[in-house]
Amino acid sequence: MAVIALVPAAGMGKRMGAGINKQYLLLGGMPILARTLRLFEDAPFVDRIVPVIPADEIDFCREQVVERYDFRKIEEIVAGGKERQQSVLNGLRALEGCADDDIIVIHDGVRPFVPQHVVQRSIEVAREHDGALVAVPVKDTVKVVEAGIVMATPPRETLWLAQTPQTFRYGVIRAAHEIADAEQFLGTDDASLVERLNDKVQIVIGDYRNIKITTPEDLVLAEAFLAAAKSESER
Ligand code: CTP
Ligand code: MG
Repeated sequence: MAVIALVPAAGMGKRMGAGINKQYLLLGGMPILARTLRLFEDAPFVDRIVPVIPADEIDFCREQVVERYDFRKIEEIVAGGKERQQSVLNGLRALEGCADDDIIVIHDGVRPFVPQHVVQRSIEVAREHDGALVAVPVKDTVKVVEAGIVMATPPRETLWLAQTPQTFRYGVIRAAHEIADAEQFLGTDDASLVERLNDKVQIVIGDYRNIKITTPEDLVLAEAFLAAAKSESER
């Protein structure tokens, strides 16, 4: 059973407002996307990596990331779509030759801090359940608000923040994405497409450092996490 990392990286980084796509911003001197891809390149349990990139950035990505950092597990780069869901679907369709039991680890290109043991656990769980969702418990109280008025306070112990990877067997996630596409259902993550079919997605406890680099203050946090990891490894 092959394990394939599918890495959606075809967004525009609008909330970062950097002028260039956020995934090429340097983190400790290396593009964020290259740091994320390196996690999978270095993971012995991952066989292949498929990045999804905007169509007009594929050549740039091949030169500046894949060739420059000598990624060996990347054979092809897939063109993304307008929404993240479309980008993932394009990636899944490009994996047409996969067996239903092959494992697809879907991981955002802008989450360079996921610990290897979390990825590994998500793969184990995806073999036994319909899907594995890496998530962390919320720390703050969450309110449901409509037109400025609080409508509800859901019990905190039931609330989790979804991260990636979200890991599935190929047959499960390909079917869920094709059904969502046919029904024009747009979800904000991959697990939601599986959940809506009443399939069971199991939580894998993530890590609070596994942030999605989205807005400028996330870059400050990311540099701090990197510095902390470096000083720890030098100790
Ligand atoms: N993504 C994608 N295809 C899209 C939109 C997003 O592959 N059409 C990817 C992004 O590149 C990112 C991940 O999905 O790695 C999570 O998305 P997000 O953080 O929202 O990134 P962007 O869409 O690039 O940022 P923004 O929403 O601020 O424009
Ligand atoms: Mg987005």
